[in-house]
Amino acid sequence: ASTTDVDVSAIEAGQSIKATFRDQPLFVKRLTAEEIAAARAEDDVDMRDPETLADRLGEGNEDILVQLGVCTHLGCVPLGAGEGEDKGEFNGYFCPCHGSHYDVAGRIRKGPAPTNLAVPEFSFPSEGVLRVG
Ligand code: FES
Repeated sequence: ASTTDVDVSAIEAGQSIKATFRDQPLFVKRLTAEEIAAARAEDDVDMRDPETLADRLGEGNEDILVQLGVCTHLGCVPLGAGEGEDKGEFNGYFCPCHGSHYDVAGRIRKGPAPTNLAVPEFSFPSEGVLRVG
């Protein structure tokens, strides 16, 4: 299985980039302090696929959210990672195919998708370098 390196050093808080990982869209976002607070505040809310923000970021990672840009319903690419795109009702990601709404941490909150946006294996082998896979 191949890995993909992404330069995250220039991603500012609140910015997302889209990359590709094993032929699938990959969303990488540096969360703002406000987004982190908002996501944490909802960690204990009843969810379909319960995960905390910390679960999704992993150990030692404060703010880089790494997830596949693939709706877990039937595989459309959700909106929300691009400038001006519809982030849905939970300020995260919105899949227009059948109306799934994910929150700022990529957790499914409304609509038919069964699970959160998938978080692939990743690490930071050096400062500013994200290695996925
Ligand atoms: Fe996203 Fe159906 S594929 S809601």
